[in-house]
Amino acid sequence: MIAAAADAMVPLALSIERLRRDTQDTFTVEIAPPGGFSFAPGQFNMLYVFGVGEIPISISSDPTKKSAFQHTTRVVGAVTAALKRLKEGDTIGIRGPFGSSWPTAEAAGGDCLIVAGGIGLAPLRPVIYSVLAQRQKYGRVVVLYGTRSPDDILYAHELAQWRGKFDLDVQVTIDRGGRDWRGNVGVVTTLIARSPLDPANTTAMVCGPEVMMRFSLTELQKRGIPADRIYVSMERNMKCAIGFCGRCQYGPKFICKDGPIFRFDRIAAVFGRPEI
Ligand SMILES: Cc1cc2nc3c(=O)[nH]c(=O)nc-3n(C[C@H](O)[C@H](O)[C@H](O)COP(=O)(O)OP(=O)(O)OC[C@H]3O[C@@H](n4cnc5c(N)ncnc54)[C@H](O)[C@@H]3O)c2cc1C
Ligand code: FES
Repeated sequence: MIAAAADAMVPLALSIERLRRDTQDTFTVEIAPPGGFSFAPGQFNMLYVFGVGEIPISISSDPTKKSAFQHTTRVVGAVTAALKRLKEGDTIGIRGPFGSSWPTAEAAGGDCLIVAGGIGLAPLRPVIYSVLAQRQKYGRVVVLYGTRSPDDILYAHELAQWRGKFDLDVQVTIDRGGRDWRGNVGVVTTLIARSPLDPANTTAMVCGPEVMMRFSLTELQKRGIPADRIYVSMERNMKCAIGFCGRCQYGPKFICKDGPIFRFDRIAAVFGRPEI
């Protein structure tokens, strides 16, 4: 934890250790706080670009490595664009980690299905590292990842490494293929039906645009995966990130402290309702 509970609203100024461009609109910053950093897969930090604004961004790095952490961000507006303009050595404000985590412990003993769309792979990357670090605890592990085009594939190098592992099934699909693309074409949800899993004994973790999650949920349920073994990551605008301001209210819950990771059966009544 970077900020103690009493000063969870006060960002700690930390410098950017490393900055990497991932795709044309996505980049990863690495921060190495002097005292190290612990987080659970799925948690997020509030990133403050001084003079511009503060945004929630999931932690995307390997949770077993405590000396540094990473955030992978897609540019969509003012703060994400300002973050991208920063350079190595520049300072940003950090509060966190906040929120609930993916059920890596609960998934042990069964099969594990990870379904990611676009930037949704970033909050799930720590799960992949965490599962690989204790691979013997899980049955079959399947990663399904869909993105727009070959140029938009995130973590291409790691995906290639993971695909090379005999005990991890990684499938990548893109919306639009080019002449050089020999892989899957089509939305990620089409891969769910063909995944080699024991549905009754599978934990599914899903992150991506809400429309992608909605179709994934339909496919997962068709496949026979129980609603209480399906987890989704929800996003809403945030301000305090500690359950005070109400900005991220989601039905009776707050996404910042009850989420962002929810067991699907617990939010099924409000899921997909934009006004919530
Ligand atoms: C818990 C959590 C974790 C997140 N993790 C990541 C991450 O790992 N990587 C990443 O790139 N982004 C992540 N986001 C989304 C990120 O916070 C927003 O993209 C960011 O706040 C946009 O700020 P901006 O000033 O650049 O754009 P704005 O000017 O605020 O918005 C630009 C556009 O994006 C839309 N938008 C803004 N915020 C959100 C949001 N939270 N959900 C859906 N649409 C939004 C706006 O409606 C607008 O159309 C996460 C959000 C949450 C709540
Ligand atoms: S962001 Fe303030 S209550 Fe969630």
